[in-house]
Amino acid sequence: MTSSLQMELTAAIRNIPDYPKPGIMFRDITTLLGNPRAFRRAIDELVHPYAGTKIDKIAGVEARGFIMGGAMAHQMSSGFVPIRKKGKLPHDTVRIAYSLEYGVDEMEMHRDAITPGEKVILVDDLIATGGTAEGAVKLLTQMGADIVAACFIIDLPDLGGRKKLEALGVNVHTLIE
Ligand code: PRP
Ligand code: ADE
Repeated sequence: MTSSLQMELTAAIRNIPDYPKPGIMFRDITTLLGNPRAFRRAIDELVHPYAGTKIDKIAGVEARGFIMGGAMAHQMSSGFVPIRKKGKLPHDTVRIAYSLEYGVDEMEMHRDAITPGEKVILVDDLIATGGTAEGAVKLLTQMGADIVAACFIIDLPDLGGRKKLEALGVNVHTLIE
């Protein structure tokens, strides 16, 4: 069943055909971010399942995961850990190569960003093939994080990302397809 929240969030997202490559339907959340009510409702819905649970860190994936993650960390009184594209972080890092719907890249995080055993929620705007989120889960796991969940506003189920993460034992929380 589609809820009124799901209809509101879906209507707030702009679809751009053939970006960044021919054949890709790009789901552009900048319109949702620019809509005060939709942005607040999306963040409220993402943090809702964890009310009363102490989450040490929100890990956000560059670039759109930073926007969701900063807002979630503030609301949950958690720290924030940036997972960045290679070459952007100034201190010692761990790095992993990954592929996504329209390319390949490398991401990294600071080695000291997580204390082993810390409870972490991974966040990004969207999961498509799951390659990006899988890379982030591997980095966090390598650093000893206890990954409570991975959350996304948008799931593109035909691309299999949710199943890929669930096969790694990760709880996946998404708002719309
Ligand atoms: C997008 C999106 C996710 C990723 C999902 O990021 O924000 O991070 O793709 O794709 P996947 O599930 O197939 O891995 P992108 O790499 O375009 O980076 P950006 O946020 O810097 O635009
Ligand atoms: N990341 C991977 N696939 C995407 C899509 N179709 N729209 C926006 N971001 C994406």
